[in-house]
Amino acid sequence: MCGIVGAVSARNIVPILVQGLQRLEYRGYDSCGVAVYADGLKRARSTARVAELAEQVAGEHIQGGTGIAHTRWATHGAPAVHNAHPHFSHGPGDAAAAAPGRVAIVHNGIIENHDELRAALKARGYRFNSQTDTEVIVHLIDSLYEGDLFEAVKAAVHQLHGAYAIAAFCKDEPHRVVGARAGSPLVLGVGKDENFLASDAMALAGVTDQIVYLDEGDVVDLQLGRYWIVDRNHKPVQRPVKTVHAHSGAAELGPYRHFMQKEIFEQPRAISDTLEGVEQIMPELFGDKALSVFKQIDRVLILACGTSYYSGCTAKYWLEGIACIPTQVEIASEYRYRESVPDPRTLIVTISQSGETADTLAALRHARELGMEQSLTVCNVATSAMVRECKLAYITRAGVEIGVASTKAFTTQLAGLFLLTLTLAQLRGHLTETEEAQHLKAMRHLPSALSAVLALEPQIIGWAEHFATKEHALFLGRGMHYPIALEGALKLKEISYIHAEAYPAGELKHGPLALVTSEMPVVTVAPNDALLEKLKSNMQEVRARGGLLYVLADADSKIESSEGVNVIRMPEHYGTLSPLLHVVPLQLLAYHTACARGTDVDKPRNLAKSVTVE
Ligand code: F6R
Repeated sequence: MCGIVGAVSARNIVPILVQGLQRLEYRGYDSCGVAVYADGLKRARSTARVAELAEQVAGEHIQGGTGIAHTRWATHGAPAVHNAHPHFSHGPGDAAAAAPGRVAIVHNGIIENHDELRAALKARGYRFNSQTDTEVIVHLIDSLYEGDLFEAVKAAVHQLHGAYAIAAFCKDEPHRVVGARAGSPLVLGVGKDENFLASDAMALAGVTDQIVYLDEGDVVDLQLGRYWIVDRNHKPVQRPVKTVHAHSGAAELGPYRHFMQKEIFEQPRAISDTLEGVEQIMPELFGDKALSVFKQIDRVLILACGTSYYSGCTAKYWLEGIACIPTQVEIASEYRYRESVPDPRTLIVTISQSGETADTLAALRHARELGMEQSLTVCNVATSAMVRECKLAYITRAGVEIGVASTKAFTTQLAGLFLLTLTLAQLRGHLTETEEAQHLKAMRHLPSALSAVLALEPQIIGWAEHFATKEHALFLGRGMHYPIALEGALKLKEISYIHAEAYPAGELKHGPLALVTSEMPVVTVAPNDALLEKLKSNMQEVRARGGLLYVLADADSKIESSEGVNVIRMPEHYGTLSPLLHVVPLQLLAYHTACARGTDVDKPRNLAKSVTVE
């Protein structure tokens, strides 16, 4: 999703801006640009990669001490140079339409009232050169400018409805950048005699580790060696400066072809880091206030999107089956807008890799407005809005996830959610000491169990060669492996562009069986659990229609390869934690199928990593 970097310094900040964009590249983008003050407004924009923007900037000798930069993920207006940020104002007084005016801006988010603002600005003589809602903001700031950019931005954001993070500068005040945020993330980086803005602290790794997380509605004024912030009511505020050791996103690929492959293979390490220090089950794993929060709840409501939603769907089986606590899982973008019946004794659990997903944050706030105060997040970014806004948190330690398709975040979320299950089970009297010890032993075994599953890669590559020639695929699972089938189908469709659907296997005969032909590969997640015999009947239904089965059978499933039935045997039988292991071959299947089809695995078309707009 879009990324912002901005800076005010006495040195040339173009390399910092470009490097910051490179660190935000993993979020996904379709165009990029940079603008600086150099005796007026200068900019370069591109629909190519940031590396090419860097060459363009060097070629055009663009340099300056004040500037802003952006990676854009198109919402309003197609991916094209004229829609790429930064945008310049073109007011009634500015000569040619293409000539730069006086204000430059970059923006993340969506302005909902852009149509009416555009009409009003056009009527005043403002010219529009793009289809973006961002151009409305820059013209609005210009129209309110009376020699003080901070005042103009404060007045402008007052008129905006929707979500935004912006960074702006004006050629009439060359040593000043003004930022503002509401609904989209923005941090301030404090340097020595210089200050920075960015969408996340990672963009400033190596530049400054002194980070201020701006609050909803904040407007910030950056100058050389000083800054100040006002809140949504324009009252001056002090926000804490935190020392943040952000990792550079420009991680090394090492021996891997893609970040997704690397991240799949990092899962044993990611799980062991996530579980590090967990010696026993206790509420404090989730924060100091956990015991008091857990005593005030009788049910759980999980809110999340995409892959994180599927980890929530898996956890529902654990929470109801082991902790005996009623659990509901909702897609955040649906929950936030539907009428629901709130129960204040509900624990809201948000699940998010990034901790910045707009729909999940909005759903959390909606739940709070409905009177559900107790909240917990399972999140991979300790400094994210999600962690800041929830009372309790379990921070997964997957490490930076760069591949757009989430892999290690999913399995580490499951580990965190399993710990939550055990903790609630213990508090509700459903976990004996023996059971606790058994579960902890099984969790500690996960890294080596995952390594054994990863060794199946050569067999999965064999499957992927068949899948690469297909246009459709079906995934089946039952019970807690149904969400794993859903996740397998999501992975395949998002990176290989093969249409894939997942069904609980018992539903097959109620419709989807009509799709099954010899051209339809059917992946079946078939561990030896209470539903195995039922699943075997569903597999027969597929074979009887000529469908080709690709079966993940665990060591005890007793399913053998035969004509039309391709079995990969999982190294062990895993019990309750089986979903964490069975998802890995499906991640590898999607990855190798996408490689065989030659798609851009780490940056699939139309998708962004961190979805900070609605
Ligand atoms: C799919 C994927 C997305 C994310 C979703 C939520 O591979 O990565 O479906 O899971 O956008 O993102 P987070 O977890 O950051 O809230």
